[in-house]
Amino acid sequence: MALKNDLLIRAAKGEPVERTPVWLMRQAGRILPEYREVRAKLNGFIDLVKNPERAAEVTIQPVDILNVDAAIIFSDILVIPEALGLPYDMVEKRGPVFPQTISNMEDVKKLSTSDMSDKLGYVIEAIKITKKELNDRVPLIGFAGAPWTIMAYMVEGSGSKTFSKARKMLYTQPETAHALLQAITDCTKSYLKEQVNAGANLVQVFDSWAGILSPAQYDEFAIPYIKQIVDSIEEVPVTVFSKGAYFSLHSLGKMNCETLGLDWNTPVDFALKMAGPNKTFQGNLDPCALYGSTSEVRAETIKMLDQFKGLRHIANLGHGVYPDTDPEKVKVFIETVKNYTQK
Ligand code: CP3
Repeated sequence: MALKNDLLIRAAKGEPVERTPVWLMRQAGRILPEYREVRAKLNGFIDLVKNPERAAEVTIQPVDILNVDAAIIFSDILVIPEALGLPYDMVEKRGPVFPQTISNMEDVKKLSTSDMSDKLGYVIEAIKITKKELNDRVPLIGFAGAPWTIMAYMVEGSGSKTFSKARKMLYTQPETAHALLQAITDCTKSYLKEQVNAGANLVQVFDSWAGILSPAQYDEFAIPYIKQIVDSIEEVPVTVFSKGAYFSLHSLGKMNCETLGLDWNTPVDFALKMAGPNKTFQGNLDPCALYGSTSEVRAETIKMLDQFKGLRHIANLGHGVYPDTDPEKVKVFIETVKNYTQK
């Protein structure tokens, strides 16, 4: 079946579009009262992630309520550590916590790297239900965390400002780090392949903690693994979002992916010089801009769009939307993108 609205896919591939497509990272989540209602009926976040019908429902909410040009499957990047044998809890106001972590090669060897499709079947099922219920109105985005970001959580055991335990491992046990990154990469490749087989129309790789590595470390511990993942996906466009890693845009520009995510710290002309003209950029309004008044949100959105004038662009924020953002302001952002015509 052909997509009724395929703006996102055409923009990703660099094909002509009538207007810039728009969606928001973390659009399926706490900004919507309708999401909180569904979540309240279940036993917490992880219960919702593992409930394919309900996960499909909250995936589609932003399409119905906000009118975005894409859905992103409701799940989390942390399903991969869990499938590898490190379960997580999602603690209110604290975020993810892992009771067990990785601290040496023995721990890596104990990871269970087989039967991924059994362990992540609930996500695949949610994708199939979502595809059916979306009825090809808009594309469905699949996703996974990039190996370095997943490793960071598996070693650290929770969120952190510095991820110093995970970064320490890069210096003190580089072989352990490489073994762990390869295990995550292998698992992620088969997981994304299954997402695509189930109907995902594009996949995004989130490297949320890219920006805490040095350029040299990023080249050694992140790029080669992202490249393996990107090279393994042939059927659909791929987006790589390496948050905070402006220095990586040169390597990412040479990678076999269609789109690069930009955060709000990265000037567009700089990104273009680094990555070259053959990529679509996705981003990059500061999520805090949505706390402004209606006219301020409109003005900031237009300012952002003007910076991408003449370039391949998918409008988005420079990171996930913050949970206390007024959905009305999100709608102003979306409407402004849709009504924008290049002068
Ligand atoms: O709408 C979407 O983007 C799809 C769903 C999605 C979630 N997490 C749902 C979620 C996606 C794409 C993610 C990715 C994710 N998860 C990332 C990468 C993107 C980023 O923001 O950098 C990261 C680092 C995580 C790990 C994670 N999950 C953290 C650190 C937290 C706690 C902090 C927070 O944002 O609440 C989560 C929880 C989480 N993942 C929630 C949602 C909707 C909130 C849980 C709740 O409903 O209470």
